[in-house]
Amino acid sequence: MVGIKGVYQTKFGELWDKSLMGLMLEAGEGAINNAKIERKKIDLILVANMLGGVLEGQNHLGALAGELLGLKNTPAFRVEAACASGGVAINQAAMAIKAGQAKNVLVIGAEKMTDKSNGEVALALMGAASEAERLAGLTFVGLYALMARVYFEKFKANKDDLAYVAIKNHKHASLNPKAQFPFPVLLETVLKSSCVASPLHLFDCSPITDGAAGAVISGEDGKENKIKLAASQIATDSINLTERESLVELKATKIAGQKAYQEAGIKPEEIDLAEVHDCFSIAEIMAVEDLGFCRKGEGFKRIKAGDFDLGGRLPVNLSGGLKACGHPVGATGVKQLVEIVTQLRGEAEKRQVKNCRIGLTHNVGGSGATAVVNILKKL
Ligand code: COA
Repeated sequence: MVGIKGVYQTKFGELWDKSLMGLMLEAGEGAINNAKIERKKIDLILVANMLGGVLEGQNHLGALAGELLGLKNTPAFRVEAACASGGVAINQAAMAIKAGQAKNVLVIGAEKMTDKSNGEVALALMGAASEAERLAGLTFVGLYALMARVYFEKFKANKDDLAYVAIKNHKHASLNPKAQFPFPVLLETVLKSSCVASPLHLFDCSPITDGAAGAVISGEDGKENKIKLAASQIATDSINLTERESLVELKATKIAGQKAYQEAGIKPEEIDLAEVHDCFSIAEIMAVEDLGFCRKGEGFKRIKAGDFDLGGRLPVNLSGGLKACGHPVGATGVKQLVEIVTQLRGEAEKRQVKNCRIGLTHNVGGSGATAVVNILKKL
């Protein structure tokens, strides 16, 4: 069995006083302490990170994390799959355990983004897109705006419908002290915010964030492994949007989700709560549909109706999601796992979902070229 022994998340936000190394160290130590495991029992370290090389001039993060944590000589490497790096690192930890190559894997997701200008960050993020998209001058806001336009056309949605994603996720973030934007927002504020790439406005976008999260994933039997990684599946698709069969869904999400439900032996209706990849409001709408939480073309209606609110039938993004908890890209997939484990342990305080047993994380790289779905079960 692959279980989660310990988890930790740093504060997310614009952290002037924290370096990439400091964030990695805090998340790594936090997860080890939370796991109550002897440090020397960690036999593999995986660091999920996308932009360290471009923004910080710092690659080779696996060995660096080992050194920082007093774990020199331990196998360690960086995992990169754009914004899905964290989810993929969890998948790789499970693979190493199942292959008998490791017993206790420390996964750290970390990103330091706010020391550079937003223009430099936007350009660096475009490393996750295709050359043609870069040459066309697109950014990720622009790419998701294109998908939003096609979705609007097909399902008769409009930009007012998008606003309910931000309202929900800010409401949840207001209950999460680790969130970058821990405050609720009014419909009027969302609608009046500046337009970034039509139809997406400021509040339709995840922000630029510093932050880290860590998890100790373990194959050791024992009472402490009370949260099981019941499924972990990755799927990919073309990087270039023009090569996709459809622009109103992410096929990689659908495939990874279906395979994960099969691996866990469950149906989407059995999921009690989920953290989905809401890098832009339209992304959350497509995610709840692609993961089978509602029918295609109905996501925006169900979000507006409160189905995915705390207290709703399937709470989504209780951390505040990428929108309001923040999106330190390489750390996001690990933070999603931290939120679900915290909920399944009953430690989520004001945002706690009552009697939850099964949680799902959904982490996307780029505009949908990589998708990872992890399912966690409380034993
Ligand atoms: N939601 C709400 N408020 C936000 C915000 C967001 N996403 N991003 C920034 N703000 C706030 C800031 O806190 C700041 O508030 P203040 O004036 O009260 O201090 C204000 O807006 C201006 O911040 P700034 O960083 O100058 O904004 P910006 O206009 O340069 O950048 C975006 C805003 C949306 C363009 C930028 O956050 C962005 O590019 N996001 C997308 C990141 C991305 O593509 N990630 C990968 C996804 S695949």
